Amino acid sequence: MEKLKIRANGALNGEITISGAKNAALPLLCASLLTSETLHLTNVPMLRDVKTTQKLLQGMGARVLTDNIHEFEINCNSINNTCAPYDLVKTMRASILVLGPTLAHFGEAQVSLPGGCAIGSRPVDQHLKGLEAMGAEISIEHGYVKARAQRLQGAHIVMDMVTVTGTENLLMAATLASGTTVLENAAMEPEVTDLANCLVKMGANIQGIGTPTLTIQGVEKLHGCTHSVVPDRIEAGTFLCAVAMAGGKVVLKNAAPKTMQTVLEKLTEAGAIIETGENWISIDMQQRPKAIDIRTLPYPAFPTDMQAQFMAMNAIATGSSKVVETIFENRFMHVPELNRMGARISAEGNTAIIQGVEELSGTTVMATDLRASACLVLAGLVASGETIVERIYHLDRGYENIEQKLGNVGAIIERINDH
Ligand code: UD1
Repeated sequence: MEKLKIRANGALNGEITISGAKNAALPLLCASLLTSETLHLTNVPMLRDVKTTQKLLQGMGARVLTDNIHEFEINCNSINNTCAPYDLVKTMRASILVLGPTLAHFGEAQVSLPGGCAIGSRPVDQHLKGLEAMGAEISIEHGYVKARAQRLQGAHIVMDMVTVTGTENLLMAATLASGTTVLENAAMEPEVTDLANCLVKMGANIQGIGTPTLTIQGVEKLHGCTHSVVPDRIEAGTFLCAVAMAGGKVVLKNAAPKTMQTVLEKLTEAGAIIETGENWISIDMQQRPKAIDIRTLPYPAFPTDMQAQFMAMNAIATGSSKVVETIFENRFMHVPELNRMGARISAEGNTAIIQGVEELSGTTVMATDLRASACLVLAGLVASGETIVERIYHLDRGYENIEQKLGNVGAIIERINDH
């Protein structure tokens, strides 16, 4: 089992290059199902979830023509199986993203129901409701969603809540439907916008990109294109929190500051000096962070995927803070682990109250989700003694070479393998 061994080593200084966004790369890879031509993606992060998506598409008959580092050429003109099996879906809930494009292009799709996960029940009812409104016949049999439609029909869909992959699934499906689809209360996350921009390059007709109302005029077919995946705002935010906690001066290259305004404002409130250019962010932190309150909400408000990392920062900040998680019902699994490291956090329901402490103390910790694991790495960077973070396969789902990137700016962090 691989683990990370971390020792505090003072301030972080230097440069880190940000990878492409996991949450954009996954739907973009699935968009290849919408065309018989080749989709060429660049700036693809090398992550376990990307590999899982590749396996999923290959299992359906897709040909991966190039999988160079950070680059994929993928062709779906030989799809011979429209099923996403449980074995893969259970390891990655985003597998549900094959449902919309497969149904729209091939007239049928079967996707294993994802089931619960560590951070909550996460149902897919909005995905199914939208596809039904577009004329799909949907049944749940033997744990699988089975969907059929000769050709999807445009529809007016108002989503009950803002759902990121739900919006992406319906957006992809609508590109090949006959007539006009209006998606209201659509997610505005930058990864949805990135997908929409790529679909337009593929020949889709989409109005309202970046707003809560997407209007899609269906077309007969889409073609291939080349698209560069938007930089990962959550990876960038995680490294900014690391510097806000450890101190120092770091420049993030290949970043997208315009997609992370709220996070940058919160870091400024915590005492960091942030500067940005078109594709870089610099952070200068010369003081202990100040405690800041957070409430997670859909974009452009504060992202749930940054909640755990800011909790780690608040744990060592001056003063006390309140963190409210409104997106997922069970996303405080890092709290008991941070407390084992000496943090003073009490959580009840979706609210955590954090009393900042001067120092954390290293120990062996683990987390059962991706961002909670990242939060424990951050805590390890400033804790006294040694911190061992176990179960880092969660981290590898969403962070490319995290130990190397942090090591390059001065952190002492090492991957160890004990069987
Ligand atoms: C995506 C991101 C994930 C992020 C989350 C919220 C990807 C691959 N993952 O997950 O990193 O944390 O957005 O920003 O992009 N819901 C329903 N019914 C549905 C769909 C969602 O009740 O049909 C609920 C969920 O349980 C949750 C909320 O809506 O409480 C938001 O979930 P959603 O935006 O769908 O999350 P994901 O798309 O799974």
